[in-house]
Amino acid sequence: MSKGFKILSIETSCDETSCAVVVDGRVCLSNIVSSQIDIHTRFGGVVPEVASRNHITAIDNVVKLALIEAKLELKDIDAIAVTYGAGLIGSLLVGVSYAKGLAYATCKPLIAVNHIYGHIAGNYLTYPKLEPPFICLLVSGGHTAIIKVQDYNHHEIIGNTLDDAVGECFDKVARVLGLGYPGGPKVSKLAENGQANIQFTKPNDTLGYNFSFSGKKTAVINYVHKLEQAGKPLPKEDICASFETWVVDELVEKTTRACIDCGYDKIVVAGGVSANTRLRKELMEKAKENNISCFVPKFEYCTDNAAMIGSAAYYAYQDGVGLADMSLAPKPSLSL
Ligand code: KG4
Ligand code: ZN
Repeated sequence: MSKGFKILSIETSCDETSCAVVVDGRVCLSNIVSSQIDIHTRFGGVVPEVASRNHITAIDNVVKLALIEAKLELKDIDAIAVTYGAGLIGSLLVGVSYAKGLAYATCKPLIAVNHIYGHIAGNYLTYPKLEPPFICLLVSGGHTAIIKVQDYNHHEIIGNTLDDAVGECFDKVARVLGLGYPGGPKVSKLAENGQANIQFTKPNDTLGYNFSFSGKKTAVINYVHKLEQAGKPLPKEDICASFETWVVDELVEKTTRACIDCGYDKIVVAGGVSANTRLRKELMEKAKENNISCFVPKFEYCTDNAAMIGSAAYYAYQDGVGLADMSLAPKPSLSL
């Protein structure tokens, strides 16, 4: 691939319509994100049908804006990339159809990208010199996993959630506390002013590198319901701080142990929950104690965005694994 390879990337897997222009997988020229959070807030979560309809309305302008901000025209672009899974079927369909149309009309290569590879690549944009191998802690609304990233396109999941994802758990705790959607940032904000002084259940972890969050979620919900039934006030700040600390401690401990056991010296965090301040701070500290370097993405590359897809697309195309044709279809349950 010649130097200066420009990819126009599209991401519509959930409720963000996004388009970016990324050069050589590392330099982001533009990254337009049109979020639907305000639309879904009143429903308390993402409504898939509403999300896909809003992607259709937004996508054309988002793509045009990405080109304008990058000061480029379509003719300057070398390839088109798109997230084809995992995600909501209707939402993915909008991005995949649009990208296929664009690639066909302009006779440019089409690159299909796994959303999770994108989240990992958010770190390649943040740290231009970062290279595999490393241990990745993936924490998003749909996934929680410890991944051994041997190379750009070779990954092995060594720890996984057995039930809920950590972001989902933050969202549900926020809901029971009446904080609204999306819950993660709201729980995190309240936790700043609280004390981690509540033990919801007795610790009993026999899961190795795996996680289970549904028990934690239920423990918090039961705690809240008991107080409500007794007519007592909810110490929301302390509940948030205790829950957040409980979850973060486990993520930090298992990720660090996995890194040491694998003989690696780098930990990389990816996914929406990587925006969590406590997680970033605790993991940095624990890694430092163990002579491990810790990398966290810039905030704009934590939650869903197309720039991370453009970076992952570059490495997929380079390794000859991402090239797609007009038969490309969305894969809602695509795994790593
Ligand atoms: O990666 P992402 O944008 O979407 C998926 O691919 O799932 O992650 C969204 C998740 C949501 O569950 C949201 O509550 C959570 O990331 N999140 C946070 C924070 N910011 C976003 N969780 C905890 N603390 C945060 N600051
Ligand atoms: Zn995501």
